[in-house]
Amino acid sequence: MSRIVSADRLNCIESNVWVEFIELANKYKPRVNLGQGFPDFPAPEHICRALASTVVNPDRPLINQYTRDCGHPRLTTVLSQLYGQLVGRPIDADSEILITSGAYQSLFNTFMAYVNPGDEVIIIEPYFDCYEPMTRLAGGIPVFVPLRPRRQSPPVDGDEDSRSPLSSSSADWILDPEELESKFSDKTKFIVVNTPNNPLGKVYTREELELIGRLCQKYDCLVVMDEVYEWLIYPGSPQRQHTRMASLPGMWDRTLTIGSAGKTFSVTGWKIGWTYGPRDLIRPLYLIHQSNVSSCATPIQEALAIGFELELKRLDTDQSYWRQLTESLVGKRDKLSAVLSTNRLMPTVPDGGYFMVADCSQLLATEKVDITGESGPTRGWRFARWLSKHRGLQVIPVSAFYSREHNCLAENLIRFCFCKTDRSLETAEQIIRELIG
Ligand SMILES: Cc1ncc(COP(=O)(O)O)c(C=O)c1O
Repeated sequence: MSRIVSADRLNCIESNVWVEFIELANKYKPRVNLGQGFPDFPAPEHICRALASTVVNPDRPLINQYTRDCGHPRLTTVLSQLYGQLVGRPIDADSEILITSGAYQSLFNTFMAYVNPGDEVIIIEPYFDCYEPMTRLAGGIPVFVPLRPRRQSPPVDGDEDSRSPLSSSSADWILDPEELESKFSDKTKFIVVNTPNNPLGKVYTREELELIGRLCQKYDCLVVMDEVYEWLIYPGSPQRQHTRMASLPGMWDRTLTIGSAGKTFSVTGWKIGWTYGPRDLIRPLYLIHQSNVSSCATPIQEALAIGFELELKRLDTDQSYWRQLTESLVGKRDKLSAVLSTNRLMPTVPDGGYFMVADCSQLLATEKVDITGESGPTRGWRFARWLSKHRGLQVIPVSAFYSREHNCLAENLIRFCFCKTDRSLETAEQIIRELIG
């Protein structure tokens, strides 16, 4: 047998939902793609201009060359000012922030730097799907704990007299404190918490974060906060503000917080992210980082720094890009949830982020939808394939955000991304109306 075979560590990795659904999109060319999480409207002009003028500047030739490995100084400086203010303590720009190729790489660095073979990582379901393969690649064992809806799901048979609500809120999805504690042990290395959450849009309350924090203290483990949607909390949500675990008493020393420029400035293609936390926790991440990516794109970091400097000045004002983005997204969220709920796709209305989960069981009970020819582990998965192939609308099955053992909890759930132009959302609306019309 040839010795030219891939490393054993790859045996734990399965093909993921993105590969399948991007292939579907390439093949069937959907009329509208509400599957992947990226805006299809323009990025803020000031950021784009900053990038253009940074690159096309004959007086600064070095701006197009390598920058400092841990992060471009202008960017780490402004991030230290911003997060220092938000977390309520000084953050050292040189040693407490690491700039990466997107939040994805921040996550990867974290798993590689902290998880030993046999270590356990607690992952709250539904979760951003890469947490599981990253745990396994590092030799760790994922331990899953699901958020559970306070109310029962509506009946599967499409009972016309059903008294089930037409929509629910992401705040209805909660952790059972006893179940959560039962997952901690002396093998736990860290828990990953994503707030606002993808795909549910749940914004964790201060009390929920305090509970998680207490457990991390009791079992002496780290907490990894994936806060890439930190600026997207909707007015009227019970949680009006994003609570940062790192700001809670006693938690700074055991928290690594991850952010994303892609989500922050609607530039997902720029692929810059960061991790901040205490120097001793950041140092191991840096060692991993310098052994794979080393430094990230200099001009993009410079342009982002210019963007952050401006946003820092107008933080909490009506001019803030983050406030304006949230205000524009809340209208899109409300429109989409109204369309879904009047067309038998019961939405869970998110308090944050830019995704909306909907239950398709009532729609699947109508005669117009026939998913029998589709493959996939759950009805939601098969429906998502059918929608893409036969109706030109791309969405993502929520079971992809669950472990295999728990994916039945998302049997009928699909995810819509609503950070899209009104035109895209109107096309989606038309397709959805035609499903039962
Ligand atoms: C929860 C979550 N974390 C991390 C990422 C990765 O972010 P980035 O594009 O900055 O790598 C995403 C992207 O969709 C996400 O939804």
